[in-house]
Amino acid sequence: MHPFLQTLHSYNRYLLLAALIFVLIRAYTGWLNRKPYEKLDNTASAALLGLTHLQLVLGLVMYAFTSQLTKSAFENFGMAMKDPNARYWAVEHITAMLIAVVLIQLGRTFSKKAANDTDKHKKSAIYTTIALLIIVGTLAQKGLLFGTNQG
Ligand code: HEM
Repeated sequence: MHPFLQTLHSYNRYLLLAALIFVLIRAYTGWLNRKPYEKLDNTASAALLGLTHLQLVLGLVMYAFTSQLTKSAFENFGMAMKDPNARYWAVEHITAMLIAVVLIQLGRTFSKKAANDTDKHKKSAIYTTIALLIIVGTLAQKGLLFGTNQG
């Protein structure tokens, strides 16, 4: 079960990063060139949110039930906090990614509520940029931007 979830979570990272970049390119060009907010913008933003939710669910299941890394950390949480690797998996990855998930969600919600098209692009651009920076920073810290977790 765990290898399956881990593999899905691992590959979905690339889809998520690609969707983030696609949404960002459209949001910035739309915002700065005052383009209309088109159907493709909405579809891309919905797809990004879907991939984000999938990543969240896979992550939560591994975190709470299947990951040996979090299991070991929870057995002795005090010790885990002193070990940078255990701390990353028990606290840092989940905290940073949850913030990124909330930002992606807020970007879509505020963009949908915005009064005009330029504002829709702007809201999407700002929240998605911060989410991307958090995700890239958190993955890069562990060499996980393109690689897999070595334990
Ligand atoms: C939303 C953006 C997220 C991205 C881009 C992301 C990315 C990754 C990557 C690349 C790995 C390493 C996979 C591998 O070894 O090949 C990983 C592992 C993991 N992630 Fe995430 N993650 C995200 C969110 C989350 C969330 C929200 C949680 C928890 C609620 C979570 C829990 C985990 C756990 C527990 C592992 C370690 C699995 C193991 O090796 O035992 N992730 N994540």
